[in-house]
Amino acid sequence: MIKFENVSKKFKDTKVLKDISFDIEKGQLVVLIGLSGCGKTTTLKMINKLIKPTTGRITIDGEDISRKDPIELRRNIGYVIQQTGLFPHMTIRENTEIIAKVEKLDPVKISEKTEELMEMVGLSEEFLDRYPSELSGGQQQRVGVARAFALDPDIILMDEPFSALDPITRTSLQEELVNLQSKVRKTIVFVTHDMSEAIKIADKICIMDKGEIIQYDTPENILKYPSNDFVSEFVGRNRIWESPEYIRAEDIMINEPVTVSPELTIGKALDKMRTMKVNSLLVVDGPKKRMLGLIKPKQIAKMKDRSTLVKDLMLRDFAFAGAQDSIVDLLRVVDDNSISEIPILSEEGNLMGLVTENSLVTTLSQQYFEEGEVI
Ligand SMILES: Nc1ncnc2c1ncn2[C@@H]1O[C@H](COP(=O)(O)OP(=O)(O)OP(=O)(O)O)[C@@H](O)[C@H]1O
Ligand SMILES: [Mg+2]
Repeated sequence: MIKFENVSKKFKDTKVLKDISFDIEKGQLVVLIGLSGCGKTTTLKMINKLIKPTTGRITIDGEDISRKDPIELRRNIGYVIQQTGLFPHMTIRENTEIIAKVEKLDPVKISEKTEELMEMVGLSEEFLDRYPSELSGGQQQRVGVARAFALDPDIILMDEPFSALDPITRTSLQEELVNLQSKVRKTIVFVTHDMSEAIKIADKICIMDKGEIIQYDTPENILKYPSNDFVSEFVGRNRIWESPEYIRAEDIMINEPVTVSPELTIGKALDKMRTMKVNSLLVVDGPKKRMLGLIKPKQIAKMKDRSTLVKDLMLRDFAFAGAQDSIVDLLRVVDDNSISEIPILSEEGNLMGLVTENSLVTTLSQQYFEEGEVI
């Protein structure tokens, strides 16, 4: 784990980092994001001691890095900088192997590792003898990433590695990074200006402004619960629609839908439907509201005997969803089952809420209307 404790940085008289504290868990991908000049690169470079804090302390796995030899520290920290930082007069092989050679590792092992790294970043071996200028920007960037992994470090620092690329190459490298990370589980600190990029790749996002941390949270929480106007503005109101999987049933469901007991008569159930102005009743049992079935006016209408009990008439076979299911899942349930209301159940089958057609439409329409506008 990387831990920043009250870290500040002054360049001459200007304070560019103001007392920041945060933790980066092992195996997580954390994105530092913010406007130009807010201190992202400064924060990143402190982790491998390219910049020293003016005050405060940084520890890695409990060890204060100010006491560590920088060379030794950097052996365990890969670093990818913007525009790749490849040496133009060296081939791709030489660029990739340079650190391992400086470390005097076994040449056979180095060579094997290089081939493995090329495969990892999706470049064929024919590139190894070329020079960086003979590769496209995206290919150079892949080499930059491969090189950062060369000594198999635990930590990788990436400073806007994809910012110079076209959107399509960029998107595919982001996806590859996510895939790669799911296999290697390194601790990665990634700097970007781009919120879409951050949301796509991050376990946690650290939003910075003028040398301070404004919010440090998961992409989902940043999208749903921005801590202040700066974050909302930065995130953009409609950003959540780029990740609709973060809009979940529990965010849009009615928490106290109208229910009936299985022992009630259908006459009483019909009265309840009328007074509560609902199209169906959810039949639940016990204090935990175990969901047993559904009852609809159509079924009741067919039944002459009003003293029939709800439990003898209810539909026991009904579609439902879970609280964590996304709006995309819910729309699928609506579509597959031609229904307009979805009971939301816990894993034990207890009723937690109800998503109605109305709540789906209201949620979906939010992306087309300004805040406060009456629909
Ligand atoms: N060596 C330095 N000497 C003086 N000031 C510096 C130095 N390095 C950075 N700064 C200042 O510190 C502030 C933070 O710089 P930093 O490079 O960390 O920003 P950043 O968030 O990475 O910005 P960008 O998105 O533009 O890369 C800026 O105002 C910058 O001008
Ligand atoms: Mg920077």
